[in-house]
Amino acid sequence: MTDVPAATEDKNQSLTVRDNRTGSEYDVPIVDGAIQAADLGKIRTDEDTPGIAVYDPGFVNTASCRSAVTFIDGEKGILEYRGYPIEQLAEKSNFLEVNYLLIHGELPTKEQYDNWVHEITYHTFVHENVKTFMQGFRYDAHPMGMLMASVGALSTFYPDARNISDPDNRHMQIVRMIAKMPTLGAWSFRHAQGKPYIYPDNELGYTANFLSMLFKMSEKKFEADERLVKALDVLFILHADHEQNCSTNAVRSVGSSQVDPYSAVAAGVGALYGPLHGGANEAVLRMLRRIGSKENIPSFIEGVKNGNEKLMGFGHRVYKNYDPRARIIKKSAEDVFEVTGTNPLLDIALELEKIALEDDYFVSRKLYPNVDFYSGLIYEAFQFPPEMFTVLFAIGRTPGWLAQWLELVQDKEQKIARPKQIYTGDRQLEFVPASERWK
Ligand code: CMC
Repeated sequence: MTDVPAATEDKNQSLTVRDNRTGSEYDVPIVDGAIQAADLGKIRTDEDTPGIAVYDPGFVNTASCRSAVTFIDGEKGILEYRGYPIEQLAEKSNFLEVNYLLIHGELPTKEQYDNWVHEITYHTFVHENVKTFMQGFRYDAHPMGMLMASVGALSTFYPDARNISDPDNRHMQIVRMIAKMPTLGAWSFRHAQGKPYIYPDNELGYTANFLSMLFKMSEKKFEADERLVKALDVLFILHADHEQNCSTNAVRSVGSSQVDPYSAVAAGVGALYGPLHGGANEAVLRMLRRIGSKENIPSFIEGVKNGNEKLMGFGHRVYKNYDPRARIIKKSAEDVFEVTGTNPLLDIALELEKIALEDDYFVSRKLYPNVDFYSGLIYEAFQFPPEMFTVLFAIGRTPGWLAQWLELVQDKEQKIARPKQIYTGDRQLEFVPASERWK
């Protein structure tokens, strides 16, 4: 028996692998429920052949890091940021405090909180040239494309951000990014509407100021209904982090090259732009519109069960129980509709959920509503066009991306992200120059 790399103290905490090509057996240590892929790499038939690799498209069963930011138990429907249950944060905290928690790892004292809010509030303005840059986009530019480009452009306004080994410098960039994200997001929205960009109002809170930059017209001060401010703040909290999802993985992967955090977060915005990640709530709205009325639900459900349709907003790679965020969002939807009047699609959504949760097809596959089932309905009540939904997600997810980036750059175990491949192409072909091939 060969030990890889060395015998584990406790043989029960190891995996014995028998390589049938050679007859050799190996003990691979199990630490924290995982084996090191590099240990498998030491299993080889001889010195000249490469060791065993793990093939895992989409990282379905590969841990890429150790992280203390977010805990998810998908079977039980649990989500915690830094150990605090999402339900408690949504009910008792606010988005800026949750930002502090995610970035610093613990809740702030009164003084730390006040300083944090002050810092964020006084970095909401962007350089005037950012405005000119954004005005250069086509009249119908997608706001998410504008957001991605302008976040990336910030790296040219703050070249000092490259100094990622300095903790004070990192803090400065984190504050800037959290502060400026709503400004860039709101301006992307105004651009598509041909409306003037509204400057931040530092007398307003984070989310109220965002609503002001979105919707202010000629009034002296824009003050949104408190219930709407609270509902959007809660939505931001619910989206603030979700461990190693596609966009966070993009931020970590790009950040592992030690590039500045603006470039890394721009990559995260790009990943979120894709329909498989940030775009499902828009698909839910389209589905509800297509169903049209409650009478059509049974035939729609039949279509889903026959494999002709998907029930959008249901199912999750990780949650095999009710997505805890969906429960909170459902409550927020009620609060929002109290202000804006109900959305007729809500009745269809509620009935659809009721029927699906009693149907064996969904029950046996553990398909429950996810965060996107109700969020689109709320965003529509705010009068956001569907293209803005992902921008809202991006603003909410920014502290999560930054907390994960911060963890990455301080993690001594991390290396530049560089997966292996299984090469399937040709080898050693004889190159024939074009002048001879095209004769
Ligand atoms: N409607 C109908 N059947 C479904 C659905 C659905 N929404 N989701 C999964 N299934 C079925 C699927 O056909 C499969 O059935 P079978 O075993 O008979 O082949 C079974 O359930 C397992 O599904 P899966 O595709 O293996 O599950 P997955 O983990 O690969 O996919 C998912 C997860 C979210 C992509 C999928 O559930 C889905 O497409 N849902 C609809 C889209 C959606 O709401 N996406 C938002 C996700 S939450 C946003 C976020 O957290 O970023």
